[in-house]
Amino acid sequence: MKIESKEYRTIWFENNVVKIIDQTKLPHRFVIKDLKTVMEAVNAIKIMEVRGAPLIGATAAYGLVLSILENKDQSFLKKSADYLIKSRPTAINLKWAVDRMMKKLSGVNSDKIFEIALKEAEEICKEDEKFCKNIGIHGLKIIEDIHNKKKDTINILTHCNAGWLATINWGTATSPIYQAHRKGIPIHIWVDETRPRNQGANLTSYELNEEKVPNTLIADNTGGLLMQRGKVDMCIVGSDRTLANGDVCNKIGTYLKALAAKDNNIPFYVALPSSTIDWKTKYHKNIPIEERNSDELSHIEGLDNDGNFKTIRIYPKKSKAMNLAFDVTPAKYITGLITEKGICEASTEGLKNLFK
Ligand code: MRU
Repeated sequence: MKIESKEYRTIWFENNVVKIIDQTKLPHRFVIKDLKTVMEAVNAIKIMEVRGAPLIGATAAYGLVLSILENKDQSFLKKSADYLIKSRPTAINLKWAVDRMMKKLSGVNSDKIFEIALKEAEEICKEDEKFCKNIGIHGLKIIEDIHNKKKDTINILTHCNAGWLATINWGTATSPIYQAHRKGIPIHIWVDETRPRNQGANLTSYELNEEKVPNTLIADNTGGLLMQRGKVDMCIVGSDRTLANGDVCNKIGTYLKALAAKDNNIPFYVALPSSTIDWKTKYHKNIPIEERNSDELSHIEGLDNDGNFKTIRIYPKKSKAMNLAFDVTPAKYITGLITEKGICEASTEGLKNLFK
């Protein structure tokens, strides 16, 4: 994707350093940051300088490369893997990526371990880029079908940032959007602000602007009314963990949008690469839901009139707050899952048929 007309990936390895775009500085500043140690990678995931399920998986993979650069000892590597897996609890990609790396690296005591690790981390990134592009190609068909019937601008609602910035390139929910835009299909995106961290406002709107895709920010509670008034043709969201039965765990608020979409007969799609599928967890109540610091609710960050970053408190100190980061949308509210292999029903059969 392009930032100020220059093509970027969200993470890359250069001169023994992992380069990331510090997402806590967006949209006001575009800062590329160096990660030099595994603990810097752990921290970048924890404080959400990198975020989004596929990107935190890729960062963890590169984190293990950094760990090997620091110390080739297997016990250090194992400890690093544990730290990385624990850095955020909900998105399954983190564990998926670490397990995939450790399968290649466990027991390797030769000097080759660094090359093996770097090759696998690069492979994870290349695969994610390819899968996300394919998600776009499959999802494009849905947008084309709607456009063939409507013959007018297609209004798509999305939640949080399941965009380029959440992946290596293309994004998941945004990939069909970018494909449709490049094909000249008139689209307009309703971007949920996505409180409390405002990934919709700060990141999705930012990247859509950079790619010149028409979009409008809305407060999180606005989608229902827009759906009732015929202003939403479809919803596409991402996923942090999709269970084998098709239930989808994604950014808090996704479930409420799916309920509103169902009530208004609006197609509700989830876009995800297979690295987001949790084949093991049987029941959605067993998914660990991240609970973040309530400061994210009570404080807000932005630029003051002089262009300086400021953090201000927005409600009384005495008010108690709870900050849960993800919710679960049951499969019955999902029209379809858009994956790298094609579109399937959100169900055990649907996923089984696609991923034999
Ligand atoms: O808390 P975040 O910003 O990491 O949450 C990201 C999301 O919820 C995305 O929608 C999800 O990772 C899917 S992204 C491809």
